[in-house]
Amino acid sequence: MGNDMLGAVLGIESTAHTFSMGMVNSEGVPTPSVSSMLQPKEGGIHPREAADHHADICENVLQELLSKEELKISAVAFSQGPGLAPCLRVGASVARSIATTLDVPLIGVNHCVAHIEIGREQCNCDDPVLLYVSGGNTQVISRVGDRYRVLGETLDVGIGNMLDKFARINGMAFPGGPKIEKLAAEWLEKNPNPSMEGLELPYAVHGMDLQYSGLYTAAKHMVEKGTELGAVCWSLQEHAFAASVEVAERALAHTGKTEILLGGGVACNTRLREMVTQMAEDREGSAHVPDRMFCVDNGAMIARLGWLHLKENEQTALEDSAVNPQLRTDQTVITWA
Ligand code: ATP
Ligand code: FE2
Repeated sequence: MGNDMLGAVLGIESTAHTFSMGMVNSEGVPTPSVSSMLQPKEGGIHPREAADHHADICENVLQELLSKEELKISAVAFSQGPGLAPCLRVGASVARSIATTLDVPLIGVNHCVAHIEIGREQCNCDDPVLLYVSGGNTQVISRVGDRYRVLGETLDVGIGNMLDKFARINGMAFPGGPKIEKLAAEWLEKNPNPSMEGLELPYAVHGMDLQYSGLYTAAKHMVEKGTELGAVCWSLQEHAFAASVEVAERALAHTGKTEILLGGGVACNTRLREMVTQMAEDREGSAHVPDRMFCVDNGAMIARLGWLHLKENEQTALEDSAVNPQLRTDQTVITWA
């Protein structure tokens, strides 16, 4: 504290499909971001197309944010990694040019750590185990010393990518997670008290790690053999979420921590939120579930982490501001918590 530079921070997010800008005020409190998500009519996210989308839209996003925010920008934070290189580069370029024009500090931040920090801020939890479930990432993370350590993670695809791909082969456009959720909920309404009989799928938990591609293939075959799509969506969610929550629970048991925090786009899912809450209740711990706008990729979470760095007098020199698509959660030293 006592940092003269500490004021409102602008945050720029561009790791994948979403370009978003958001702010925190001088106290580090976030406001809703302005975001634009690439939604291809068919197929998945192509890195080059997403980068073009970000470059086309960034000026409008900035204009819209400035029209609602009266805060004076005193630093600019951006996602330095991990993510898709062409997309990251757009955000970094925009951040460099705004910081240089305004002559304010530039701060490159770790996207995964930003998901944790916005959750801690929003849910007022102190030392949680984070179940980070997004498109590209599925990790169970907890702080040990001065790092957020990855205690368990997917050994193949991220849970969101798996859901998006299953949705896509069944005719649902990106993002598929919310569409699967809707079909599953509609099926459940027509089939209260469902049984898993005939709907079993493989369940791949390996100690603290997870795999989702076997689950995807089995679900795909189940639909091909004629099982109703809504029933398969329901079973797919039940299996994928139960496996993820099981690993998170093991992490709580091993670390002796009591707070479980959800983050990442898949954390928007109501059924997953329910399962995590139930697990915390059973263990007499506490579940922390941020508002959905702070679970998906958003500029405000980048601003929040930039603000935390700035509080510790940490900023990024222009020559160190190259993006790092492979940046790992545990590469960032935690100086603030
Ligand atoms: P990261 O870079 O952290 O991996 P990301 O690029 O995947 O993030 P997010 O916005 O964190 O971006 O997450 C997007 C994912 O969240 C998509 O796979 C999408 O299908 C999934 N998702 C969004 N809402 C829901 C929902 N209600 N149920 C399940 N999945 C959802
Ligand atoms: Fe993300």
